[in-house]
Amino acid sequence: MTVGWGFVGTGGIARTVATALELVPEGRLVAVASRTAQRAEEFGAEFGGARGYDDVAAMLDDPAVDAVYVATPHPQHHAAARAALLAGTPVLVEKPITATLAAAEDLVAVARAQGVFCMEAYWTRFLPGTQALLDVIASGAVGDVRSLHADLGFVPEETAQRFWDPRIGGGSLLDLGPYPVGLAHLLFGAPDRVQAVGTLTERGVDRQVAMALGWPTGEVAALSTTIAAQASTRAWIEGTGGWIEVGGSLPSLPRFTVHASGAEQVHEHAVAHGHRFMLEHVHECLARGLTESPLVGLDRTLEVMRVFETVLDQVGAVRHRELADG
Ligand SMILES: NC(=O)c1ccc[n+]([C@@H]2O[C@H](COP(=O)([O-])OP(=O)(O)OC[C@H]3O[C@@H](n4cnc5c(N)ncnc54)[C@H](OP(=O)(O)O)[C@@H]3O)[C@@H](O)[C@H]2O)c1
Repeated sequence: MTVGWGFVGTGGIARTVATALELVPEGRLVAVASRTAQRAEEFGAEFGGARGYDDVAAMLDDPAVDAVYVATPHPQHHAAARAALLAGTPVLVEKPITATLAAAEDLVAVARAQGVFCMEAYWTRFLPGTQALLDVIASGAVGDVRSLHADLGFVPEETAQRFWDPRIGGGSLLDLGPYPVGLAHLLFGAPDRVQAVGTLTERGVDRQVAMALGWPTGEVAALSTTIAAQASTRAWIEGTGGWIEVGGSLPSLPRFTVHASGAEQVHEHAVAHGHRFMLEHVHECLARGLTESPLVGLDRTLEVMRVFETVLDQVGAVRHRELADG
């Protein structure tokens, strides 16, 4: 079975994922929806002649579209993903799935009511490096894992509106938080305590956030996101018998080093076009008739969104609220 993909959005990540899709035999880009017909046509022509649409609803009527990938800014995910689900079309939604918890809960409810596949594009989960990291932890190489430190941040250009404008998801946490908070959730599950401090930009979005998370089983995490500084983009996973430094880049997890028993062991897992592993996973889910991913399920997505909601409320960040703001 070949999955015909319809993309919504023609920006940076749409291009990255379209390039990765070209390497995956079970999938093909067949259609793309943009706010302008010209951009849709140009993007489609660049990626194998996919049909261009200037309207998501029209693209959903295209019988060649078996699945939709939503690659717009976060507050614009909800409307496109909801339309796909109501049309009965499986959907992969960029991270974070929405800009607010309420919108995420609505999408999850629609997906479950419709019985249609829906997954947040937390691509890091499907990388070989992530699986290798989980295997090393499960082997007991650093004993019982008790804590995590993770930082992610950079200084975007002033002109990169997506990072600064609340109407298109500005702020550090929603854009970068899916990686440190995602890793914390992968290690420990849903936290029961979240405490944050942050600073805001003039437009009221979060410039920097420092978070402390706690779990009922005793683990803790200290995480941060920033669009005010070039952060280390690293993580430290600490256990009773040693620690692991996740280096290089937290999202693409190219390398980690295990420090235990007085020795260091470096694990290299750099891959090109890493989003292809996520696409292969979605194809497998669809072939098996699943409505949720066993690895990045909808409960997990809601649990991560609950952390974001709590943090953004605590720091008083301005947000575009999809359900109220349209
Ligand atoms: N998984 C990853 O590795 C990764 C990496 C980066 C970003 N992301 C996520 O992907 C999403 C998009 O990020 P990006 O970096 O690709 O952003 P981007 O380069 O700004 O592209 C977003 C695209 O969305 C479309 N769009 C629809 N409504 C829009 C609006 N009101 N304002 C601006 N654009 C609008 C635009 O395409 P048209 O003009 O054709 O409509 C635009 O090109 C975000 O949610 C982000 O968190 C994921």
